[in-house]
Amino acid sequence: MKRREFIASAGFVAALAPAVGVEAASLKAGRHHHLPMPAPRTVLPSRQEADEPGRLLLDRAWQFHRGDIPFPEIKGHGWTYSSAKAGQAQGPAATNFDDSDWQTVDLPHDWAVDTPFDKDANPSQGYRRRGYAWYRRTLRLEPEDRGKYIELQFGAIATNATIWFNGSVIAHNWSGYNSINLDLTPTARFGDHLNTIVVRVDAEKMEGWWYEGAGIYRHAWLAKRPPVYIETDGIHADPRLGPDGRWTVPVTATLGNILEGEASATVSVELTDAEGRLIAGGSAEATVPPLGTQEARLDLAVTDPKLWSVDTPNLYTLRARLTREGQHDDLRTMRIGFRTFRFDADQGFFLNGEPLKIKGTCNHQDHAGVGVAMPDTLWEWRIQRLKAMGSNAIRCSHHAPATELLDACDRLGMLVMDENRNFNTSPDYMAQLRWLVRRDRNRPSVFMWSVFNEEPMQGTGAGYEMVRRMAAEVKALDDSRPVTAAMNAGLYAPKNVSQAVDVVGFNYQQGEYDRFHAANPKLPLISSEDTSAFMTRGAFESDPEKHVIASYDDTRSDWGNTHRQAWKAIAERPFVAGAFVWTGFDYRGEPTPYEWPSASSFFGIMDLCGFPKTAFLLHRAQWVDDRPLIDIAPHWNWAGREGQPVTVMVPTNVERVRLVLNGKTVGEEAVDRFDMPRWQVPYEPGRLEAIGYRGGREVARAVVETTGAPVALRLTPDRMLMAGDGEDVQPVTIDAVDAKGRHVATAHLPVSFAISGGDIIGHGNGDPNSHEPEKGNHRRLFNGLAQLIVRSDAAKGPLVVTASAAGLRSARVNLHRLPATPREQVPATPSVQVLEGWRQSPPSREKPDPDMKPSDTDMNSWLWLNTGELHAAQEEARWVVVRTSFTPRHRAQARGGTLKFSGIVGRAEVWLDGKRIADKQGYGEAALEAPLPPGNAERIVTLLVENEPGRPGGLAKAVAVADRR
Ligand code: GAL
Repeated sequence: MKRREFIASAGFVAALAPAVGVEAASLKAGRHHHLPMPAPRTVLPSRQEADEPGRLLLDRAWQFHRGDIPFPEIKGHGWTYSSAKAGQAQGPAATNFDDSDWQTVDLPHDWAVDTPFDKDANPSQGYRRRGYAWYRRTLRLEPEDRGKYIELQFGAIATNATIWFNGSVIAHNWSGYNSINLDLTPTARFGDHLNTIVVRVDAEKMEGWWYEGAGIYRHAWLAKRPPVYIETDGIHADPRLGPDGRWTVPVTATLGNILEGEASATVSVELTDAEGRLIAGGSAEATVPPLGTQEARLDLAVTDPKLWSVDTPNLYTLRARLTREGQHDDLRTMRIGFRTFRFDADQGFFLNGEPLKIKGTCNHQDHAGVGVAMPDTLWEWRIQRLKAMGSNAIRCSHHAPATELLDACDRLGMLVMDENRNFNTSPDYMAQLRWLVRRDRNRPSVFMWSVFNEEPMQGTGAGYEMVRRMAAEVKALDDSRPVTAAMNAGLYAPKNVSQAVDVVGFNYQQGEYDRFHAANPKLPLISSEDTSAFMTRGAFESDPEKHVIASYDDTRSDWGNTHRQAWKAIAERPFVAGAFVWTGFDYRGEPTPYEWPSASSFFGIMDLCGFPKTAFLLHRAQWVDDRPLIDIAPHWNWAGREGQPVTVMVPTNVERVRLVLNGKTVGEEAVDRFDMPRWQVPYEPGRLEAIGYRGGREVARAVVETTGAPVALRLTPDRMLMAGDGEDVQPVTIDAVDAKGRHVATAHLPVSFAISGGDIIGHGNGDPNSHEPEKGNHRRLFNGLAQLIVRSDAAKGPLVVTASAAGLRSARVNLHRLPATPREQVPATPSVQVLEGWRQSPPSREKPDPDMKPSDTDMNSWLWLNTGELHAAQEEARWVVVRTSFTPRHRAQARGGTLKFSGIVGRAEVWLDGKRIADKQGYGEAALEAPLPPGNAERIVTLLVENEPGRPGGLAKAVAVADRR
């Protein structure tokens, strides 16, 4: 089957035209002309075939409590004894904890982005207080799930997380960037006996000097697999070109087995091309020991594949099927690409044998309005923005990225330097590194592994030894990609990290390129980080008092260079494989060179919304060769500055530029593409044009005009279409236009907005000094722009966004929501109180006293009982007492409820706090209900059970408290 892509065909779009309506037509016809954002497209985002059929999103209906909740102080022998037993977690981690008054949230979730800015909080975290929080999720597994292998997966949790399942700790996870994959099988419960997942998040912990967000900020998943299954990240399939010029895909499938005996399985692999044609196939057998793993290996020979590259990201689909006893049991689907990489110490990087200068950016992972809780389609949009600038690579600084980002890079053609977070060779941290390589090693986009960023030990023997070990771990899992480390010092120390890597990463230190290369002529070199220059988007006059930095590429950090200087140093040296500009997008935190009230960075080529700064125009003019480009900075609204010089910069890739103001030539220059033409032009309102020439012929023209006052708002989406799947998200630009419909780049006005058919899940305006909330219905335009992050509801029909501002004509955009099947989610299960902690008395011949109980120190004469366990009765002594205690949840305390016994075996009397409340006649299994009166005291439930002679009896099924609604 072919990769499902919903890119609308021309005919399909034509059919839509009447529905999309006037707005689309007029936006296309150039109403957006002066807007520094692209015209809306008539496409839907890509959606790939699911990786695994039995793996469902577990994003919906988490109960969330912000702040920590102390554990109860445990006292007394009985409680102390039991509290340390499996399944007996206490307080908010207990299965029975009352979370009914917590907030219900969906993932991905970053609670820090909702918090106010706080002057006393850490500037590195964007002046947001992060703190602690708890999440809880009730999970129902069906009786038919019994016997399956069940795995809980979190994409990442910021920052330290403790995870419980059914009252037992199942993970302490100490990084905010790695996935957490947890086997739930041994203690999973089925049917009415619900499961409880609890996560305590400690986001006081920090792993970075940038905004890290807080909470379960990537997707969660639940995988249900057959008992003999393909492990998570268990397929390694990364094409190799042999010395004989032939391509193979060596495939290794790692299989697991939870059965009690060994099991044989067949793994069949098929490779199909973009049209769905079968290209290659094969199969291999493996016998997997019980509770062990085994690999099945095979090689696929592929003739003349279409290569993957940044310009033509050809992907193939690989499906690995596990078959056992003639049944198709498990399936993994992934996309792979055929390409070769090579670094040369003199000539830089080669992709598929062709030299390719890396034009990369470093990026963190937060976006305006949503923080680090990035919707999948926003990842795709960000990669498209970078590609539009001519960028071909991204460095995930300084941690493992979301898989959805890598999906977009594979699909769109963007190389990835995949980076490890923690520099540490102890077992926990080596496990993080191994996880990263295993997860990402099939990705055509991933071309390097970076083991660290700027580690103080880089110039020491210790640093060398650590990198040597980390590189060895990486190579054991992937022998095809080079290992690098981003070094900002220590390069000439007698023992240093450059001696342990394949490619040396230079952070800054541009003055050292030649010296280092001369001293190490055999070592390939890449700029893993450069630039670190400052700009405020849309500002063209610096105002240090107000923390505003003009966008002319004149201001840089002490350790960095301007965009133009940094690129020149790299572009002129073939032995430097390429650049990674710090950064592609602004990010929260690190508001260098300022602090409060500045809360996000000034480094971005684009601002926090992805609106372009002059740096975007500069890099695009330097990085794009296949078409003439010309732009003008600044805008031309300088009322009050008549006759005074205004700096005009023309980022362009043409040969010569003529600058014309109101029909008069005011400058003409041959273009130095590293420096870009620049003039001082005495201001005169009107029309400023830059005309670009190649070979004496005009090939491009840019215009800025003095506008009138804003009279209307305008809304410009990225796409006119949205998938009605409840997950599709896109940015919508708000700007103000003058009476002639021209973008007013100097508008700073408050805007209100509304939506139907979807939600506005956040907004921003790219002002690093803004303290406006990122949620809600109001935002100011900053230097003419603001951005709404819009999510469509899971339905079809129009999605309408409106924006209004006092004294201006409102704007309305009518988007078309197309029917799309939402990705399957694990259904929300209302949390109910299930009674646990049952104890059963020794059997007696006589009917026992309902008040009978074990002493607090007696752990032995009474049984510890789980519902579902029936104990054989003796012929003579057929009576037992079964009892537990519980405190009803808030709603049941207030209104009372019902005690629901799903299955009792034997005759029984039910007693509550010393009162008989229900009877069960007959020995056979039956359900029973009894009223629970209101009250907040601890309750004692006692059953006197009389077993059928010779037959076991007791609680065959769960006992729960249903609230009175
Ligand atoms: C580098 C560092 C980056 C960022 C940058 C700012 O030293 O690697 O994470 O802090 O400086 O210029």
